[in-house]
Amino acid sequence: MPALRIAALVSGRGSNLAALLGACADGRIAGKVVLVASDKPNCAALTVAGKAGVPTVALRPGDYPDRRSFDDALFDALAASDSDLLVLAGYMRIIDPSVLVSWAGRAVNVHPSLLPLYRGLHTHAQALAAGDAEHGASVHFVTAELDGGPVLAQARIAIGPGDTEATLAARLLVHEHRLLPAVVGAIAAGRIAWNGGNPTFDGRAIDTPLTLDGNGRLGAAI
Ligand code: GRF
Repeated sequence: MPALRIAALVSGRGSNLAALLGACADGRIAGKVVLVASDKPNCAALTVAGKAGVPTVALRPGDYPDRRSFDDALFDALAASDSDLLVLAGYMRIIDPSVLVSWAGRAVNVHPSLLPLYRGLHTHAQALAAGDAEHGASVHFVTAELDGGPVLAQARIAIGPGDTEATLAARLLVHEHRLLPAVVGAIAAGRIAWNGGNPTFDGRAIDTPLTLDGNGRLGAAI
């Protein structure tokens, strides 16, 4: 199988991007990040990309009259990269559904909650406020619905009595850094497939999100 061409969208510090780049470098992902695009020209994630020698493009939403025209410009750049897969690695902006149509089944997002719980922002605070015993992260296929596409894999952590928004976010991030590369690696290997919106893993429907075992291997939840 030829190496998967990956484009990433980023807005922030870039730790998930760094995890993705690391997994491409050490062979866990049979792929290459060919473009990193952002809505935040000064974000740290672009520095992460630059240091890894990955081409970047950054556009300012304020330079465009509306969301649609900004997304058209951004997604034109993504299309020009000739990527097979788009990874939202900490991209914090709502995307106009019209530009996602051509990426159906070819875009994934990492989200810090046990979807379908807590779409959108402030997920750690919401889990705490709800008194949840568990929190987690999800990787899902991107659809027009915000944080709403089919969930592929999840990592779970217990919420302790002393947890704050910050401790929870920090503890969960470590799991995101394993989960996202594992899912992208499985897509690159042809093990996870979109299957018209009913994703499969090794040919079987993903009815329950996949999990990682102690060795970082992706598999059906037990
Ligand atoms: C992560 O928690 C990710 O799940 C969420 O935004 C954060 C991005 O962090 N979508 P980073 O930029 O990857 O460090």
